[in-house]
Amino acid sequence: MKRQVLVSGIQPSGKLHIGNYLGALKNFVELQNSGKYDCFFFIADLHSITESFDPKKKQKQILELAADFLAAGLNPKKSTLFLQSLVPAHTELAWIFNTITPMGELERMTQYKDKSAKAEIVNAGLFTYPTLMAADILLYNTAAVPVGDDQLQHLELARTIVRKFNGRFGRIFTEPKGILTHTPRVMSLRDSSRKMSKSDPASCLFLDDSPEEIHDKVKRAVTDSGSEIKYDPKEKPGVSNLLGIYSAVTGRPMRDVEKEFAGNTYSHLKERVAFALAEHFREYRNKKAGLMVKSAALKSLLVSGSKKASKVAEKTLFAAKKKVGLSP
Ligand code: ADP
Ligand code: TRP
Repeated sequence: MKRQVLVSGIQPSGKLHIGNYLGALKNFVELQNSGKYDCFFFIADLHSITESFDPKKKQKQILELAADFLAAGLNPKKSTLFLQSLVPAHTELAWIFNTITPMGELERMTQYKDKSAKAEIVNAGLFTYPTLMAADILLYNTAAVPVGDDQLQHLELARTIVRKFNGRFGRIFTEPKGILTHTPRVMSLRDSSRKMSKSDPASCLFLDDSPEEIHDKVKRAVTDSGSEIKYDPKEKPGVSNLLGIYSAVTGRPMRDVEKEFAGNTYSHLKERVAFALAEHFREYRNKKAGLMVKSAALKSLLVSGSKKASKVAEKTLFAAKKKVGLSP
């Protein structure tokens, strides 16, 4: 039987934090290893240039994310790993999607509203970001998209685009569904009402942080009033965030984790969380250090993965252009 297709991407725009990991990358690895899916994971470099960036640093960020993928456990023998800009079908299909997507749909996007409020100049790419994301997904006849919950609105728009395209030109695309983890929104260490985000580095625990940095940051993380340790994101958002992180990295259900900490102090919880994180990322840190000195190998991995992805993407693009009446 043909396996269902699974697609996801991450932007090369800085170091990965544990939100990216627990909301997305860790799940990519588990889904890949489940053997149930035909997986495509890519580096969304075209999306990353919609925000201010330094062209001199972009190559390094791309290769570093490739190293992150491998160090976390993605395997080019099991998944197709590629670079978005090396598969031109993505931008070509995105253009077609731009012509069927109402401005109003794009104006509603929360990420666009947040990012455009902060940007000095709002570029058109930031606005049409979700149509490129829809193309990324739909080129592969994708059934499932593992992401953090901040991306669900974009995924919903991709489903709207499927209906609009199929309705107007004939059925070709299928509506993908999202796959969330138990920690789809890891919160900031400084403000538990906001998500952990690369745009606020002080809110983040990075995968590359040394055990000392992890201990130091977790020690300073905000907690809540009272002293009881229980999972209650409404009343105890800071403590619940730490419990969620602990449960995810130890792989233990929240029930057991709550039992472990019953009657303990916040500082004990922080110590255990920091220790678990430092241990969990030990192998990752070692592997990544080894990979970072092999930039030629990382490049060739992306080139060959992109060739594989292109074969699938071009077929879909050709079929879509035919439906629209563009291809002879
Ligand atoms: P950021 O928002 O930090 O710039 P990206 O946009 O590159 O990160 O996101 C990469 C993946 O990580 C996406 O699937 C996104 O939903 C997920 N993600 C980002 N931040 C978090 C978070 N705080 N908690 C859970 N998942 C997250
Ligand atoms: N927009 C996603 C993010 O910021 C990255 C992304 C681009 C993506 N294209 C995608 C995720 C397609 C899933 C599927 O995290």
